[in-house]
Amino acid sequence: MRKSAGMDERGGGKYETEGEVGFLLDPIAEFREDHRKVRDGLLALEEAIRQNRIGEAREVLGGLNQLVGPHFRYEEEALYPTLREYLGEYVDQLLNEHDGVIRTARRCAELLQKDELSPEEREAGARAARSLLVHVSNCDGLAIISERLDADRLGELARKFETCREQGVPLLEWAATIRERRVD
Ligand SMILES: [Fe+2]
Repeated sequence: MRKSAGMDERGGGKYETEGEVGFLLDPIAEFREDHRKVRDGLLALEEAIRQNRIGEAREVLGGLNQLVGPHFRYEEEALYPTLREYLGEYVDQLLNEHDGVIRTARRCAELLQKDELSPEEREAGARAARSLLVHVSNCDGLAIISERLDADRLGELARKFETCREQGVPLLEWAATIRERRVD
């Protein structure tokens, strides 16, 4: 595989592979776009739980589960190990935050199996959804560091991100099966 003239400096762009022309995603732009979708999804989830719109809350949580599974997998299998060189033990904090997100997502999914939520359950669920914004904010900060990676490493990240998306394993399924770190 070699980069074509259309390759942009951040690693996204057109690649030629033995005569075939493929298109790799821009790993930084897609990473940040995921964060925007997660941010908006979490705020929509909080609102739906607060307003007792359980069906809508289930749908939003289901969408987040699909989106965040490949995103977390890409981060843990590719991005975080790559950035450990720059960020050292901070990467461990991010992994701990992922553990917390998985626990919270499980609790929300359990809660939303009920057809009715008490006012206390609604408050707890809404707060839990909002609390996840902290990790979205922390994680998006990695984009500024990723911009210093060279084109080869960005190309590797792009390939890995694409593979994780193609496989499309939802968050809670990934956490229970493929992920090496287990969360009780
Ligand atoms: Fe992230």
